[in-house]
This record gives sequence, C-alpha cells and structure tokens, in this order.
Amino acid sequence: MKIGIGNDHVAVELKQAIKAHLEERGLEVVDFGCAGTDRFDYPISGYKVGRAVADGTVDLGVLICGTGVGISLAANKIHGIRACVCSDPYTAKLSREHNNTNIIAFGARVVGSELAKMIVDEWLDAEFQGGRHQHRIDMIAEIEQTQGLEAAE
Ligand code: RB5
Repeated sequence: MKIGIGNDHVAVELKQAIKAHLEERGLEVVDFGCAGTDRFDYPISGYKVGRAVADGTVDLGVLICGTGVGISLAANKIHGIRACVCSDPYTAKLSREHNNTNIIAFGARVVGSELAKMIVDEWLDAEFQGGRHQHRIDMIAEIEQTQGLEAAE
C-alpha cells in the first residue's frame, strides 16, 4: 500500500516520525510536504496529497500542520476526498469504519508523536463497513457533485 504524506513548516519533525513509522509497517510513503522550517503554506501539501489520493497515485493520505485543520480543509476541496482531523484513536477508527475517510490529518501542535502513531495505526487497521454508511457517503458525494441534496428538499 502506498501512502501520500504532506505537512507544513510547523510539522516537519512529526512528519518525519510518522513517515518512519509507516515505513516500519512496510508501507511505501510518498512525501509531498516540505523538509525545512521556512514558511510553507499548508494548502500546497493539502492539495498535492488530495490530488494524489483522488487520482490513485497513492492509496491513502496523511496530512499534518499545526492543528490539522487548514491542511485537511484544502484536501477536502478535491472531489472524492474525505479528510478529517483526528486527535484520538477512537475517532480515527470510526472515521474509516463509518465515513470511509481516505485522508487522516492531525496537528503537530496538538498531538505528540506516540499518540499520532497510535492514531494512524487505528486508522490504517480499520475497514470501511459499507451498508448504511455507504448510503451516507453517497449523499456527501451528491452534495459535492451537485451542490444539492435531494433527500433534504
Ligand atoms: C501555521 O502557523 C498554522 O496556521 C498551520 O500550521 C495550521 O495550523 C493551519 O491550520
């Protein structure tokens, strides 16, 4: 499995730690983020990882900025992306099982590296449950594609 990873200038250290952890798990990691601490606008990484997930260049994505918020908002602008910020393993697991998230984000100013690894592991080990959840994912896609939602009319 191939994972795209991206970050901004405040998340370089945590990005390296997560990247190493993913590689230890035997995953291939493609790095779309910055390597140094000079200012690096998070939408660039959010966009690049979002595009890579959406076009199948990578299977899933991990995004890290100060809070995880800005970078996930950027990725979510790409059609087909379901990115969410998770600061705890339970939300990470459920985000995959129920919401079929294809990108996980977290904040380098919010979680430490050990918690971040646990969050990523729960997320990767979880599986989308389908069924009634698929119906809701389809509704989200309808909003994305049409800017409307028939069920809400
Ligand atoms: C950078 O200062 C900070 O705004 C960014 O890392 C992120 O937290 C945005 O959501």
